[in-house]
Amino acid sequence: MAKDPDAIHETVRKHYAGRIRSSASCCGGDSSATPDIKFYPAELLSTLPEGEAMVSYGCGDPITLAALTPGQTVLDLGSGAGLDCFFAAQKVGETGHVIGVDMTPEMIERAQASAERMKLQNVEFRLGYMEELPVDEGAIDVVISNCVINLAPNKAKVFAEVFRVLKPGGRLAVSDIVTDGPLPEQIKSSLSAWAGCIAGAIDVDEYRGSMQAAGLVDIDVSPTYFDESMIEEAVGDMGQDLDLRSWNKEAISRTVFSARITARKP
Ligand SMILES: C[S@@+](CC[C@H](N)C(=O)[O-])C[C@H]1O[C@@H](n2cnc3c(N)ncnc32)[C@H](O)[C@@H]1O
Repeated sequence: MAKDPDAIHETVRKHYAGRIRSSASCCGGDSSATPDIKFYPAELLSTLPEGEAMVSYGCGDPITLAALTPGQTVLDLGSGAGLDCFFAAQKVGETGHVIGVDMTPEMIERAQASAERMKLQNVEFRLGYMEELPVDEGAIDVVISNCVINLAPNKAKVFAEVFRVLKPGGRLAVSDIVTDGPLPEQIKSSLSAWAGCIAGAIDVDEYRGSMQAAGLVDIDVSPTYFDESMIEEAVGDMGQDLDLRSWNKEAISRTVFSARITARKP
């Protein structure tokens, strides 16, 4: 099993550093820079300044799920190029605050440059791991995340950190990848499949159990579907590994799902 946390972090970091480097720096129209904005409603997309690049590597819309209100403090785990933070910033307004945390310096740089261009005063980006959040205890009203927790080698640590940083009564609203049943061992042990958001995905029941063990309540994990283009992307990411070709697109679509996940700190 590919369980060495350092090797997983390193592979994932290299993967996303490469992807953001190859996408347009701003106002871009290249397809790698605009893969998954289809998850968001038009009303939300229209809140971004005209021509601003929408770089997304997500698998859902945690913003609509989070139902953010003005004045809230929001934390985005694995904020990538910052898209969900920018949406959140519009929702929480000048009296609110948004913190994006990501372990990939290239992502933080891109997100900071975009925030400066958009002159957003209520957003900041911090370099760090979601397993050791650079965030004070009890500081956050809502934790959001988009297609990131599956990438963590130790999910229990992530949920323990979520619990620590949430205020009492604070909420979690996440889009992520989960599985219905086990993945083949050859997939689980592939670092490239891990970076492609497949190998690190865990069974829905295990995901729920991990949140429960951290102390979260009112847990809901609702699998939706795994978008066809994401399957193509995941298969592409795994394409170098001959062993993985035997586990094909059909098998992925039967086992791997995007999910809407919500929970609350008592
Ligand atoms: C699939 S991308 C999603 C980015 C963003 N949420 C979005 O929707 O576009 C995963 C992001 O999570 C970050 N990441 C992965 N593992 C992480 C960890 N353990 N701690 C912090 N960031 C992590 C990666 O650097 C990358 O930017």
